[in-house]
Amino acid sequence: MVPSRPRVLVLSELPAALRARLEAHCEVTVEPAEELTDAEVAARVPGYDGLQTLLIHQVGQRTFAAADRLTVLANCAVGVDNVDLEAAQRHGVTVTNTPDVLTDDTADLTWALILAVCRRLAEADRFVRAGRFTGWKPDLLLGRSLASRTLGVVGAGRIGRAVLARAAAFSVRRLYTSRSRLPAAEEDRLGAVYRPLPELLEEADVVTLHVPLTDETRHLIDAAALGRLGPDGILVNTSRGPVVDEAALGDALAAGRLGGAGLDVFEAEPAVDPRLLEHPATVLAPHVGSATHETRFRMAELNVEDLLTALVRGERPERSLVPA
Ligand code: GLV
Repeated sequence: MVPSRPRVLVLSELPAALRARLEAHCEVTVEPAEELTDAEVAARVPGYDGLQTLLIHQVGQRTFAAADRLTVLANCAVGVDNVDLEAAQRHGVTVTNTPDVLTDDTADLTWALILAVCRRLAEADRFVRAGRFTGWKPDLLLGRSLASRTLGVVGAGRIGRAVLARAAAFSVRRLYTSRSRLPAAEEDRLGAVYRPLPELLEEADVVTLHVPLTDETRHLIDAAALGRLGPDGILVNTSRGPVVDEAALGDALAAGRLGGAGLDVFEAEPAVDPRLLEHPATVLAPHVGSATHETRFRMAELNVEDLLTALVRGERPERSLVPA
């Protein structure tokens, strides 16, 4: 009897070349889905050996309990807060993500937000489109000079370090905080000085967040943290929305206790606190940190590589996040 080919369920669009690569070895079902709850993923998973998901698909206890054949889950994001890794481990399912390939694009978007808030770019764009540009004026839309200001980077993983590396080009003083300090040689390379979070928030003019969403980082930036950043401070978030207490952020902005914010992520996406929408000094983006043609292809490609490594070669993908 011919052994049956592994069955894979892909919950996103897959570029044709990647689909063909997968189909050469597996029975592939491509069923692009918008937001899915754990129960909704659970309803789809029986009978599949491999699963590809997006960050808008919740994969928890119910999915792993319903997964009668699943051995590998490839999540098309670097963040895996949508996946219950402990449940995956209990059920012997390997989980992989898409690190590295999105580092540069996410760091670039972070700088785009920093610059856009400091130089009031979104306001300026709205101003011109509204037909209000009636002539050059010396005091029109004055922003903040970045040079000589202090940048505070929270989280010194791949993306935090890439943001710091770009900071040299803008002549900003660089502080960072992280669970563990970087080696001295890396601090030197990045020109970055370590500070515990409270001190970093007190000293920095612009604070940017690059931590994964975990129980420890949920609401890491709360009302007290925003108070430390102060009325001239700018907060930038391209990590995960719930790292910031969005209601506290709305309060701080509305009361003039924070200078501005550049946000690519929101606490209850796709909902956005109305006070963030109303405030002139916010620049908002719809979670597009890694959204370039090149990077989205590479992310899907890593997923396909990991599915094939696990299901066809029977090996453990190097990106596996679940201990063996
Ligand atoms: C995007 O947010 C990702 O985690 O890749």
